[in-house]
Amino acid sequence: MLEEKKWQNIPGALQADIFPVLRKPDVICSNAYIIRTPQMIVIIDPGSLPEQMALLKEALTEDLNQLIRPVYIIFTHCHVDHCYQALIVNELSKLTRVYFAAQENGAAALRNRDLRRTAADFHRKELPGTEIDIELLSNEDKLHCGEKELILAGGDRLHILTDLYPLKEGRVFPRQRIPISEKDVMEVFHTPGHSADSICLIIGEVLFLGDLAFAGNSGIAGLSGWNQKDLVYTLEGLIDLVNKRRF
Ligand SMILES: [Fe+2]
Repeated sequence: MLEEKKWQNIPGALQADIFPVLRKPDVICSNAYIIRTPQMIVIIDPGSLPEQMALLKEALTEDLNQLIRPVYIIFTHCHVDHCYQALIVNELSKLTRVYFAAQENGAAALRNRDLRRTAADFHRKELPGTEIDIELLSNEDKLHCGEKELILAGGDRLHILTDLYPLKEGRVFPRQRIPISEKDVMEVFHTPGHSADSICLIIGEVLFLGDLAFAGNSGIAGLSGWNQKDLVYTLEGLIDLVNKRRF
């Protein structure tokens, strides 16, 4: 069990620590997670509230002062309760190079200020229109699989390996593996259902689900991009994946 608002080793990881910012489940703001390795910082879903972003910045300031590294902010999907603060004020860019990453469909929705697919209309928020530096699990990636290296605007390089992760009964999850330290890899799975761009991530023995566990909630089911057939496929696949990994 992870302890809230404390740095701790990620179970099963060798050089990765985690700082979880957990909330009671609601539709206003997501949980957030900071992961640090000697090579980079990863933030999963910074959330929508300024006080949560301030907390993330506070947790990172001293750490980045000791060792400057790039920050990769990954959105598990494009709903504004998971990403809004990063879109409107990128506070962390005052500390270091910051890159945004989202699945290709979510990247397009954020770039095009799509109020429905981002649920900005549901949350009554305006969108600034945001460029996403790293488009994860694109159709092109899935079609060709294999390795690629991204050279980002700040000069940082990201090595990405795409494949199709096999599951029971012929199912697959499109997957990307991205080294986050010399000894640890982050796995990213395309897991639509809650939204078309939903991704799940695994680092060490921790599985980050985004809003999938929330996806059947009344008021959430049926939002633009929600898809029951995809959701069932994803959930059955995840059960298989969790059983295989023995988390
Ligand atoms: Fe969501």
